[in-house]
Amino acid sequence: MHDTTAIAAPQHQKLVSRGRNPHDAELHRRFPSIDYLRRGARRRIPHFAFEYADGGSGSEDAGIRRNWAALDAIELVPRYGVMPTLPPCDVELFGRRYAAPIGVAPMGGPAIVWPGADLHLARVAQRARIPYMLSSVGGASIEQVAEIAPDVFWFQLYRFAGNDHAIGLDLVRRAEAVGCRVLVLTLDVPVRTTRPREAVTGLAGSFRLNPGIVLQIALKPGWAKALCRNGIPRFANLRPYADKNASLHEVIAFTRREMGGAFTWEEVARYRDRWKGTLIVKGVLHPQDADKAVSLGVDGVIVSNHGGRQIEVLPAAIDVLPAIVREVGRRATVMMDSGVRSGSDVVRAYALGAAAAFAGKAFLWGLGALGAQGPAHVIDLLIGETQAALGQLGARTPEDVRSVAIRHERALRF
Ligand SMILES: Cc1cc2nc3c(=O)[nH]c(=O)nc-3n(C[C@H](O)[C@H](O)[C@H](O)COP(=O)(O)O)c2cc1C
Repeated sequence: MHDTTAIAAPQHQKLVSRGRNPHDAELHRRFPSIDYLRRGARRRIPHFAFEYADGGSGSEDAGIRRNWAALDAIELVPRYGVMPTLPPCDVELFGRRYAAPIGVAPMGGPAIVWPGADLHLARVAQRARIPYMLSSVGGASIEQVAEIAPDVFWFQLYRFAGNDHAIGLDLVRRAEAVGCRVLVLTLDVPVRTTRPREAVTGLAGSFRLNPGIVLQIALKPGWAKALCRNGIPRFANLRPYADKNASLHEVIAFTRREMGGAFTWEEVARYRDRWKGTLIVKGVLHPQDADKAVSLGVDGVIVSNHGGRQIEVLPAAIDVLPAIVREVGRRATVMMDSGVRSGSDVVRAYALGAAAAFAGKAFLWGLGALGAQGPAHVIDLLIGETQAALGQLGARTPEDVRSVAIRHERALRF
């Protein structure tokens, strides 16, 4: 199921431009790492938007904290005495070359964080040659993204089971019609859960403008201006299935009604049958689930706990990654997300067998701190840091880092 089309040479050299011109130098001075972007986002966007992007499940975002702690705990031991290089980090995924083992995880509602975000993310991913996953509940349509990010466009599908999967199958038909090559089925939202910080903002219910929200927006003029330019975020993919004249609130209510539950294995098999391109399942945390998916003909799995947003009892994705690589790594491409905040995290994931590591919140923090310029800076940081970590470890290619000594005491055994 792998497509074998090569795409143009990676262009990350252009993006990795630390200090090459005064503008980039200034960006790197103000935001030298993704943590700084998070702080910048907190200052620059309305409170409800930051809470949406940044909040997780459990008390004090316990799910998110576990992901960070698990990644931080992994140590890689360098080897010295070889000529130092800043190695290239381009990789092949499903027959295509990408600039780095890094990608944009699918996110519904990034336009809440920065109006127009979906298109900014897609455009920059195409320029940088890294995978961009459009969420089925994102703010841009399949057709728009195919036009601006034709080489890097992966489409993520949630479960729309009504009327014998009429919406889900139509979304897949549309993705196929515009030449999308990778379909990602998200498995890990079997039930709706609560993210306390998001709940308090009112976003989780039927969000309405009230004086408090208006004040939050008025206090952040950059965000308000972007809203005037781009309009209210909307569910661009789902709008055609709702009533033609439906208001945003009606489309939200429609989406909540139609979307739900996690795909069953029978449904995964049905999509496998229907979709001729690369098929990936996202949200796997158990080696036997990975094995089941691969036995149904799935090409890749993304090990993920949904970035700590579903429920805090789940293990960190990085801690189950090695067991899943052992189980299916020879038969399928294993990737991961959840907690990635630096190139060092990307290299940790790669060293443990992930073919790529995806980031969600890091891109939202970039958007929040820098608006439309944010995604390029996030990619620039992640690629630069990935190269630096590989170089420091004595790796000449990403592959080399698979043979360094690793301390990973939290790794789960099944
Ligand atoms: C605001 C937000 C919205 C998300 N929406 C979706 C979605 O629509 N579909 C999906 O499969 N995952 C969704 N996710 C999960 C991400 O794809 C990804 O698994 C997670 O963000 C990775 O963790 P990280 O944020 O720590 O990088 C969302 C995450 C965030 C932060």
